[in-house]
Amino acid sequence: KPEGLRDVFKDNFLIGAALNVNQILEKDSVQSALIASEFNSVTPENVMKSMLIHPQKDTFNFEIPDKLVALAEKNDMHVQGHTLVWHSQLSPFFKEITDSTEMVEVLTNHINTIVGRYKGKIDAWDVVNEALNDDGTLRKTVFLDVLGEDYLSLVFKIAEKVDPNVELYYNDYSMTNPSKRAGAIKMIKRMQELGTKVNGIGMQGHWDLDTPSLEEIEKSIVDYADLGIKVAITELDVSVIPMPWDFTGADVNVKFESGDATMNPYPNKLPDSIQVKLANRYADIFKLFLKHQDKISRVTLWGVNDGESWKNDWPINGRTNYPLLFDRNNGKKKAYYSIVNLK
Ligand code: XIL
Repeated sequence: KPEGLRDVFKDNFLIGAALNVNQILEKDSVQSALIASEFNSVTPENVMKSMLIHPQKDTFNFEIPDKLVALAEKNDMHVQGHTLVWHSQLSPFFKEITDSTEMVEVLTNHINTIVGRYKGKIDAWDVVNEALNDDGTLRKTVFLDVLGEDYLSLVFKIAEKVDPNVELYYNDYSMTNPSKRAGAIKMIKRMQELGTKVNGIGMQGHWDLDTPSLEEIEKSIVDYADLGIKVAITELDVSVIPMPWDFTGADVNVKFESGDATMNPYPNKLPDSIQVKLANRYADIFKLFLKHQDKISRVTLWGVNDGESWKNDWPINGRTNYPLLFDRNNGKKKAYYSIVNLK
């Protein structure tokens, strides 16, 4: 009898979770046991982002990343490195570079040092994260500014050279949006034309109860797989905050007046009707993943339990959200059973 999600989906795809620092350090033994029995893949939620792992040109922080890798080894888990090249949570020194030779040198050192350290231990890297705008054009970042459009190929090639066996992914959000999808496909094709090894594409999967549509999710999985690469769902969570978001009087990430019911619709407990809606949404999504399991390498949830999800304070601070499979006491939600029951 299967015991956890990793057993339930063992013939289908890897099933993973993003781990925060407390989880990597195994601070809560109940949760550590749960992580070990439910998941066979881990992604660091933050600790391998440049700002944290490589805060200054000559300073690397490997202590907690090393612990993540050890935890994965102990529990026989896939490790997804996240992420090498990203404009956000970016170390300040990158932003000061204006010269292309210097940028290549600094990126080479960054990638060689990090990928090199975990050679043979990290299975796959999100080499580049969020390089695209929603309209499919390349996002304006210091990397694009200094190196030009083919910087993606450049950094993928550096990573491949350090560890020829590690899998290399491009990762982004809104990958189901038709214009962004077209841009992603064009971008991957360009890399392939340049002889760049790309193993897969990561669709983050920060989704809502009603959007994106199942049709767009399915079309995206199929179209990306048609590039001859794997598709991973890398950061799945389903926000239950109703759309459209009412930003009246509030800026993104600006705290709004407390007690505003329309801004924080479920502050204490998720109503049963929404629990059921969430469970159905998870079931629908996983049905699609199972249908396309030949194309899907991994499905990773962006967190373990609702209490720790970044979606609690997103898109604005102070919101309580319920986007994951385990509740605030690590109990299995209806959404958990809804995906297990598909099998
Ligand atoms: C988020 C983390 O979950 C938060 O803890 C952090 O404050 C901000 O970043 N896309 C990504 C992830 O690729 O790295 C982001 O993670 C969520 C959006």
